[in-house]
Amino acid sequence: MNLQNDLILRAARGESIERYPVWLMRQAGRILPEYRAVRASLSGFKELVETPERAAEVTIQPVDILGVDAAIIFSDILVVPEAMGLEYQMVEKKGPWFEKTVRSKEQLDLLDKDIDIVDRLSYVTEAIKITNKELNGRVPLIGFAGAPWTIFCYMTEGQGSKTFSESRKILYTNPTLAHELLNRITDVTVQYLKAQIKAGAHMVQVFDSWAGILGTEQYAEFGLKYIEKIASQIDEVPVTLFSKGAYASMEALAALPCNTVGLDWNMDMQTIRNVVGETRTLQGNLDPCALYASHSEVEKRTNNMLDSFKSQRHIVNLGHGVYPDVDPEKVKTFIQTVKSYEIQY
Ligand code: CP3
Repeated sequence: MNLQNDLILRAARGESIERYPVWLMRQAGRILPEYRAVRASLSGFKELVETPERAAEVTIQPVDILGVDAAIIFSDILVVPEAMGLEYQMVEKKGPWFEKTVRSKEQLDLLDKDIDIVDRLSYVTEAIKITNKELNGRVPLIGFAGAPWTIFCYMTEGQGSKTFSESRKILYTNPTLAHELLNRITDVTVQYLKAQIKAGAHMVQVFDSWAGILGTEQYAEFGLKYIEKIASQIDEVPVTLFSKGAYASMEALAALPCNTVGLDWNMDMQTIRNVVGETRTLQGNLDPCALYASHSEVEKRTNNMLDSFKSQRHIVNLGHGVYPDVDPEKVKTFIQTVKSYEIQY
């Protein structure tokens, strides 16, 4: 199908663009009353994720309501550990919770073996097909998965954490187990991303939300090594790598086979540009909290960010997911500011 708006794909490949493309991490979600209405009509988050027609509906909402230049398939990174045999629950106001965790070889052996990940996650590929049919080429659709390190964090800790000390403990006490689990996550993630692409995802993003809790050496060994295995096996569509908080590893991350590198809001755009060079597109990175400011302040800060860009190789986003209590009107101001900005390069 021909895309009417392929700005984000051209920006990712470093081709010429008329204006910077813009989308928001977590754009399909609680900021929109329309999302909350769909969610309230179902038993909860998981039912929404697992019902392709409804997942497609909330995926398209931000395209219609906010005017973003890309849709991201409504799902969660945690569908992968679940497909491997660790069921999760999304606890209201608390976040993810796993009854079983993997902290020993015995527990690793209890994970499901020889799984058909593509079959187990067919509700996601089905949602991708429905979404593209309904989008009818208006904007590209982004597929995604968690990076192995971040998925490892949830599988070993069993819930969110500020420090993920149970996860990091294993790196010191049983690195062999860590590598075994990371390898298994990596293998299914490659198959899963390829299935998303086959179903119609026009680009894919790998989220390493907990990259920043590892030191540089450990991130190279337990993080980057596995992202590389994924990135080097995906050549069908542009790949975005987002390693939140991994300041010291940005050069190594950008050296992996990818098109775009995501920046969080603590990262200075020009510093990272100097480290990364012109062969990669940079994505980000307004502070999600900036959207609590007044409309004129949102406009000013967005323009300041755009003024700091020194090339066309940018995709505009926040530095992390949009916070659920942000006023959608502020999000619209952010998006409109980007859309009316004239590129000087
Ligand atoms: O719009 C989009 O970005 C697509 C959908 C999407 C969700 N989760 C939906 C969601 C994406 C890309 C994710 C990725 C995700 N999930 C990450 C990586 C990105 C990041 O934010 O760092 C992580 C770490 C998760 C795990 C996860 N899922 C947590 C920790 C939570 C609870 C915290 C929270 O925000 O409530 C979730 C739940 C979740 N995933 C919600 C949504 C819309 C909120 C659930 C609800 O509707 O009640």
